[in-house]
Amino acid sequence: KDSITGEQYRPNFHFTPKTGWMNDPNGMVFYEGEYHLFYQFYPDDNVWGPMHWGHAVSKDIIRWEHLPIALYPDELGYIFSGSAVIDWENTSGFGTKKNSPMVAIFTYHSMEGEKAGTIDFQTQGIAYSIDKGRTWIKYQNNPVITNPGIKDFRDPKVFWYAKENKWIMSLAVKNHIAFYSSKDLKSWKLEGQFGADNGSHDGVWECPDLFPLIDQNGVEKWVLLVSINPGGPQGGSATQYFIGDFDGNTFTTSEKEIKWLDYGADNYAGITFSDIPENDGRRLFMGWLSNWQYAREVPTYSWRSAMTIPRELTLQETENGYIVNSIPVEELQSILSKGIIEKNNEFEVLAATYLLEIDKITSEAFSINLANRLNEVLKISVIEDKLFVDRKLAGIGSFNDVFPAIHEVPLNGIRIHKIEVFVDKASIEIFINNGERVITELVFPNEPYKSISISGDAELVTIYPIDSISEN
Ligand code: FRU
Repeated sequence: KDSITGEQYRPNFHFTPKTGWMNDPNGMVFYEGEYHLFYQFYPDDNVWGPMHWGHAVSKDIIRWEHLPIALYPDELGYIFSGSAVIDWENTSGFGTKKNSPMVAIFTYHSMEGEKAGTIDFQTQGIAYSIDKGRTWIKYQNNPVITNPGIKDFRDPKVFWYAKENKWIMSLAVKNHIAFYSSKDLKSWKLEGQFGADNGSHDGVWECPDLFPLIDQNGVEKWVLLVSINPGGPQGGSATQYFIGDFDGNTFTTSEKEIKWLDYGADNYAGITFSDIPENDGRRLFMGWLSNWQYAREVPTYSWRSAMTIPRELTLQETENGYIVNSIPVEELQSILSKGIIEKNNEFEVLAATYLLEIDKITSEAFSINLANRLNEVLKISVIEDKLFVDRKLAGIGSFNDVFPAIHEVPLNGIRIHKIEVFVDKASIEIFINNGERVITELVFPNEPYKSISISGDAELVTIYPIDSISEN
C-alpha cells in the first residue's frame, strides 16, 4: 500500500499537505502566538492546477495543524503566490486598531486571459481576515494593481516601512523586481525597479522578498531574495539573493557575483515570515522542497511536496563580502531525541529519520555515505574546495532523467569544521558550519538510510533520532 500511495515518503518532520498538490509557501506571518503558513495548493489532484491558498498554523513553527483552505479561485483568477501582513494600525480600515486585520496580498492569474492569448492576465489582489486567519473576505475593488502589459507580473511581498510610514511591496516583473508603496494596502504607487542588469537571468524572476539584516558588527544591510526558474545552480529552480541598500523607493547593490541561498536542487520560492515580534527579532524562512524540473513526477501519489525545515537567516561579513547564512531554527531541538555519540567511522542508526551532526572536523577531504540494506547510497563528499552530493544511486530516480545526478557546490575557501545533515524520509538538508552553505535535496530511498560511513577525521559524531511529529 505504501509504495502505491507514496506514503512511505511522507516526512516525519516536514510540512506536507494531507492530500493534493502543494508548491510555494505563501503569506507566512506570525500573529497572537501562531505561525501561519499558507501555500499554493490544488486540492483535487497531485499535480499543479487551479491555485488556492492552503492553510496551517503552528505554535512552535515545527508542529503544524491543518486548517481549511483560506482562499479559493474566483472570477478574477487563480490565487497565485503572495504574502500576508498584520495591519496593526488598521491603515486599510478592514478591522479596528484593537482587532488588527490580517491582510493577504496575492497574484490573481486569470485563465481566461491567458487562453484569450493576452499577456496582461496577472494582477494583484488583497483579502483580509479579522478572526486570526480563520475566514477570509476578498476586497470588493480587486484588483488593487492592474497589469501594465507584462506577461510575468506576480508574487507580491509586503512589509511596513516604519521610517516613512508606508507599506512597501516587492513584485517580480519578468526580469526585475518592481517596488510599490501604499498608505492603506489598497492603492499602490510604483516607486523604483531593480535587477534587469543584476544577478542571474537564465530564467523568469519570481517570489521576491526584501528585508533588513544586521551583521556581526552591527551594520544593517538590506537583503533581496529572488527565485529564478530555470537557471538554478543544479538546473531548474533556485533562489538567488542580493545584499545592498534600500532608500524607501528602490534597492541598489554594488555586488557583481551571483549568490544562491541554497546550493541544492530542492529549495525554491522561499520567503520569510512577517511580523515576528521584535523581542524575538529573527528572520525566519521556509522554502518549497522541490524543483519545477520534476516536482510533478516525484513518487508520491495521494499528496505532493513538502516545505524545507524552517531556517533563521543571518548576515555575515566575510573576507569575500557579505553572505546570508541559513541556520536550522532552534525550535528543532525540541524534536531531537537524546544524542548518541558514535565512536567508529562506520555505524548503524536505529531511527529512520535523524540529525547527523559531525563536529570539530580536522581533515580537509571528507566524505559521508548514507546507505540502506538495498545498497542504495547517498554520497556527500568534500574535495578541493567543492562539496558534492551524489544521489545517482540513492534510491528511486527514474521518474525524471535529470533527477539522478551529482550536484557540485562551490565552497569558495570555506574551511569546513561542522556538518549537520537532517535526514527525513525523502530529503536531506546539509548545513555547513554555521549555515555558511546549505544544500537541500530530495531523495527517495526504498528503505531508510541506516548505515553510515564517514571517511575523514572529526572529533565528535552524534546522531539525534527524530520521531514522527506529523499529525497525518
Ligand atoms: C513559483 C510560482 C510563482 C507563482 C506560483 C504559481 O513556483 O511559479 O511565481 O505565483 O508558483 O503556483
